[in-house]
Amino acid sequence: MNRAVLFLFLSLWVMGNAQILPTPPMGWMTWNYFAENIHEKDIREMADAMVSSGMVEAGYRYIFIDDGWQGGRDNRNNIIPDQAKFPSGIKALADYLHSRGMKLGIYSDAAQLTCAGYTASYGFEEQDARTFASWGVDYLKYDYCGAPPDSNTAKIRYKAMADALKKSGREIALGVCEWGYRQPWHWAAQAGGQLWRTTGDVRDKWKNVDATRHPHQAGYGILDIVNDNAHLSAFAGPGRWNDMDMLVVGLYGKKGPSGDLGGTGCTDTEYQSQMSLWCMMASPLAATNDIRSMNETTKAILLNKEVIAINQDKLGKQAGRVVKSGPWHVFIKPLENGDTAVAILNESDQAEDYTLEFSSVGLRGLYQVRDLWSHQDLGNSGKWRGRINAHETKVFRLKKPDQ
Ligand code: GAL
Repeated sequence: MNRAVLFLFLSLWVMGNAQILPTPPMGWMTWNYFAENIHEKDIREMADAMVSSGMVEAGYRYIFIDDGWQGGRDNRNNIIPDQAKFPSGIKALADYLHSRGMKLGIYSDAAQLTCAGYTASYGFEEQDARTFASWGVDYLKYDYCGAPPDSNTAKIRYKAMADALKKSGREIALGVCEWGYRQPWHWAAQAGGQLWRTTGDVRDKWKNVDATRHPHQAGYGILDIVNDNAHLSAFAGPGRWNDMDMLVVGLYGKKGPSGDLGGTGCTDTEYQSQMSLWCMMASPLAATNDIRSMNETTKAILLNKEVIAINQDKLGKQAGRVVKSGPWHVFIKPLENGDTAVAILNESDQAEDYTLEFSSVGLRGLYQVRDLWSHQDLGNSGKWRGRINAHETKVFRLKKPDQ
């Protein structure tokens, strides 16, 4: 094959894949709130609350069912849901969601059993993909507990499921969940995934405070995930996202998986930082709080449309970290219309003053500056100067003034 033909094939392949999830998926995931205790009634209530609260209109279209839905296999080896948890079946739930403009995600694992010990899909990839398609599933989170540790097997097992989904007759996106252990940003898109977790599970905490242990053992906080993900911007783009794991916004130390390993809760400022940085880094956004009873602050964080627009920007760039100095992190994300999103995080435990000369991070001249959390235009300037609270992230949209 000569180079031009190879290039054509590669471009067609990339375009084919890019059509699935051209922007990061947004939705609500069952795990952090319900863990294995999921029930179709709660999920329907959550879906109704997603509609009535404005979450769906803001872009959170998916309900992602996580581990614990499975009830084994029938006498033809078809995977089936737990009858007590899903008495109406998964298809009825998918229909319910689709009729409300929503989508359904489901969960399985590339071994015999899932992380929580339920029936998984290894060896049944094509059969399970067909079942998911027949139910109207739109997304599969594919976990990796119980599978061999080497990268090569992981590539083979994820590709087997990706190929099965492609053959299923329905467009089903694939989320790779092997926690970043095998650097999936190098291979998961090629295997057929549209996103891949880059870290272990997020806990409801700001950061790992146990200096003697790695967050893989001691639990990842928001800041740990930011630090692990900051150097991966080159790997993200339309149809290929670094997944920073679920939002913990509004959980306030609820127990359950997010409460393990020191997950005793965050402040609203820290939750706002999570939203800001997940949006800047073009991560999938999976809320996990109880949408039926969220308070006004949580709503204002999850439903900030100006910040969501940064996440969903069609150019699909992940922000690069251009400053990491003392407590300060500065992130820059180019946007489709030529604007630039800029985020400044103060990771210190006190409020501090900061000045960002835009030219120092390559943004020359004057910009119209808009603060996306106070929703105010700050006028034309070549810099931003102000006070940032402990663990707070400011997000600005910079536009070149009309010439
Ligand atoms: C973990 C995964 C979590 C959750 C859990 C379910 O491996 O990272 O997000 O899905 O399994 O058992």
